[in-house]
Order: sequence, then C-alpha cells, then structure tokens
Amino acid sequence: MHNHTHTTEQANSTEWPEIAPIDFWEDRYGGPDQVWSGKVNKVLSDIASTLTPGTALDLGCGEGGDVIWLAQNGWQATGIDISTNAVTRATAAAEAAGVSGKATFLAADLATVPPGQFDLVTASFFHSPVELPRVEILREATTRVAPGGHLLITSHADFPPYSQASDQRDHRFLSPEEELTQLNLDPNSWERVISEKRSRMTTALTGEPAPIDDVVVLVKRR
Ligand SMILES: C[S@@+](CC[C@H](N)C(=O)[O-])C[C@H]1O[C@@H](n2cnc3c(N)ncnc32)[C@H](O)[C@@H]1O
Repeated sequence: MHNHTHTTEQANSTEWPEIAPIDFWEDRYGGPDQVWSGKVNKVLSDIASTLTPGTALDLGCGEGGDVIWLAQNGWQATGIDISTNAVTRATAAAEAAGVSGKATFLAADLATVPPGQFDLVTASFFHSPVELPRVEILREATTRVAPGGHLLITSHADFPPYSQASDQRDHRFLSPEEELTQLNLDPNSWERVISEKRSRMTTALTGEPAPIDDVVVLVKRR
C-alpha cells in the first residue's frame, strides 16, 4: 500500500493527452494494487471535525477514504468518481469498515454534477493528467452547497516529493487566492473561512518522510 502517487496534474493545460478520461482512470484503478492509502486526507478530517455533521458529497472520491471517514464520523456521505473500478473498491472498503448505510458511491462523470444539496461538498486532490473541466465542475458544485453549508477544496501546492521527474510537465499549481478567484463566488452569498497552505508529512520516492504543502480553501454559503 502506498501513498498518493499521482503526479501529472495538468489542471490548467489546454492540450490534453488523447486518452479518454474514463479509460485513463479505469486503467488506473484496474490493477492489482490499491492506488491511494485508503486513509482519510488529513485536511478533510481536520476541517470536517469542526463542522456539524450532515450530508456530504465528495467529488472524485477515488477509493473512498474521505467518504468512509465522513460516514464514520456522523455524516451521510456520497462519493462520486468517473471510474467504476474506483467506486467498486470504495464500496467494498465501506462495507469492510461497516459503514455501508452511511456511505454511498456513484460512478459518474462530474461534467454533469448530480442534483441535490449537501451540507458539505468536498474535493480532495481533484486533479488529473487527462482532460478534466475542473473549474466548471467546481463552480457547478457550489450550487450543490445547502445554505449554511461548506465547500472544501484541498489541492496540491506543488509537485509532491514522490513525483517522478518525468511527470513534472509544465503545470502551474494554484495559490489559495487563485483557487478562490476561479470559483467566482458572489461575496453576498459566500463567506471565506479558510484560504491557506498547510504543511503535512508524506513519503518521498526514496521512502524518506518529506513535507508537502496542500492548498486549502473552505467557503461557507450564507
Ligand atoms: C487525484 S485523484 C484523487 C482521489 C481522492 N479524492 C483522494 O484524495 O485520494 C482524482 C480522482 O478524480 C476522478 N475523476 C477524474 N475526472 C473525473 C470526472 N470527470 N468525474 C468524476 N471523477 C473524476 C479520478 O477517477 C480520480 O479518482
């Protein structure tokens, strides 16, 4: 089991590789190994712990670590991912954790964000080396936040220390301010709660512990 090993995010690129996103991600989650750690992202657990549990939607939930943590901590959580393989893994992990009743997973392309409103909408490392209309999806997702609810976006501040040099193409990572600006939120309807970089420890390619910064944006709908 290894940590986050994805590296080739190109969220701002206009020239995407040819491969269709669904094929890329199905293949990614189709191998014998778990792709991510299975553990909750630290930013998610730190921040969601401060909120009153309700309903939650996780965009690009992968193998479900964040959704399962939310389900274990009082939330009714739904995770969506384009990859059926990922959703199958997440569903099995939720069953193994005994939280099937509180964790729902759906295989779908978020280019069509499903209807409904949630007390928390969250996106952890919603990056992709293949085509992803990230800004459009995140903007649409803001309309799925219930009044009084929150949107939490956690993203990479830079290439992770476990990334291969060959992965480090011309991607520019967003600052917390840029991430917020992209959302284009109406200040009359939204309150900025957190926009900052947070450091945590991860593992470098050498296996050594190494620090990594996350960009964290938390906004609250009035
Ligand atoms: C870098 S992974 C992050 C996974 C998980 N949130 C985590 O923190 O471990 C990005 C995820 O977004 C999903 N994804 C990419 N494009 C998508 C789309 N258009 N609709 C839904 N999910 C998508 C991928 O399948 C992948 O699981």
